[in-house]
Amino acid sequence: MAYYIGLMSGTSMDAIDVALLDFSNDNCKLIASHSHAFPYELKQKLQQLLQSETFSLHDFGRLDVELGRTFADAANQLIQQQQVDKSKILAIGSHGQTVFHAPYSTPPFSLQISDPNCISQFTGITTVADFRRRDIAAGGQGAPLVPAFHNGFFRSPQHNRVILNIGGIANITMLAADQKKLISGFDTGPGNCLLDEWCQQHLNQPYDKNGAWAATGTINDKLLQQLLADDYFSLAAPKSTGREYFNLHWIKQHSANDSPENIQATLTQLSIESISRAIEEHSHDCDEVYVCGGGAFNARLMLGLKNRLTNIKLKTTTELGIDPEWVEAAAFAWLAKQTLENKPGNIAEVTGASANLVLGGIYPA
Ligand SMILES: Nc1ncnc2c1ncn2[C@@H]1O[C@H](COP(=O)(O)OP(=O)(O)O)[C@@H](O)[C@H]1O
Ligand SMILES: [Mg+2]
Repeated sequence: MAYYIGLMSGTSMDAIDVALLDFSNDNCKLIASHSHAFPYELKQKLQQLLQSETFSLHDFGRLDVELGRTFADAANQLIQQQQVDKSKILAIGSHGQTVFHAPYSTPPFSLQISDPNCISQFTGITTVADFRRRDIAAGGQGAPLVPAFHNGFFRSPQHNRVILNIGGIANITMLAADQKKLISGFDTGPGNCLLDEWCQQHLNQPYDKNGAWAATGTINDKLLQQLLADDYFSLAAPKSTGREYFNLHWIKQHSANDSPENIQATLTQLSIESISRAIEEHSHDCDEVYVCGGGAFNARLMLGLKNRLTNIKLKTTTELGIDPEWVEAAAFAWLAKQTLENKPGNIAEVTGASANLVLGGIYPA
């Protein structure tokens, strides 16, 4: 047995995903999972922090520790539910919560909080965290970091595959059947983030369930073209982005003057179109796309991708053995394993870093 736990909360801030994996014999087996709701007050404080231009260091410090304790609770709940012997878990890999991703600022930085000292203290398990900053220090984007995991467990010698992760931001990993070909990957732009924010503002619901609201609207083609003209979509890879860029303010900048449901339909099509173009341009011989992340549950988004990418089989990662909602947490469990074994976690060609590096900091049990 080689048990590891991955703790992930992405830009959507929908939940803390906890995944327990067994990586024995170089395999990857999802043993158990748990979706840990953010305590309401904590989520509110986090959202306030993300939206404010200024904040107090006192609040920031407290939030870091409160998140660390909550991440520890999340791991402990899964351990209790499954009655796993803690001594069998070799490490926890914690992504933390991104509060700012700024790969293009001078100097560039990416900041994830959720104090890993608290995670190791309150779980009693060695914790690896802060994966992105080493890659940035070495000139990389710090993102995406999931491609190495995708390559390790989802590559096929028969098919040119793309793994498409639709979280708040969407990212793709191109895995050519020819094992000699390099892996590539990048953030394509918005996945669910704009859909969520627009839905929260107009329906007061966290997300557009199954894309049902978008389905009541009509795509505004003029607006769609205007949104697709944003510089991010034509930027050459390596590239990465976040909610600091793609947010309500971004939508309003394009003076979206239409009914809320038509805009929701258009934003859904923006995700579909920007993802599809990225796949077509960077993996023209791709024959299979496997989708993971919460976007895999948005029926409207999935149907749109299927209709748009006509010659490609679109499936979810369930067919590769891990349900869509646990792939990213699984990747961070594996990244912890890589770190403890002194092996690299990034792929320099993907992030643009000067080398493949051992990522993160280790917080011993
Ligand atoms: N049934 C559903 N219908 C539509 N969207 C969904 C559904 N289930 C999940 N989602 C979307 O997935 C998001 C969460 O995806 P996730 O992969 O956890 O993103 P992140 O990594 O940014 O946290 C939700 O915010 C929501 O937009
Ligand atoms: Mg999430």
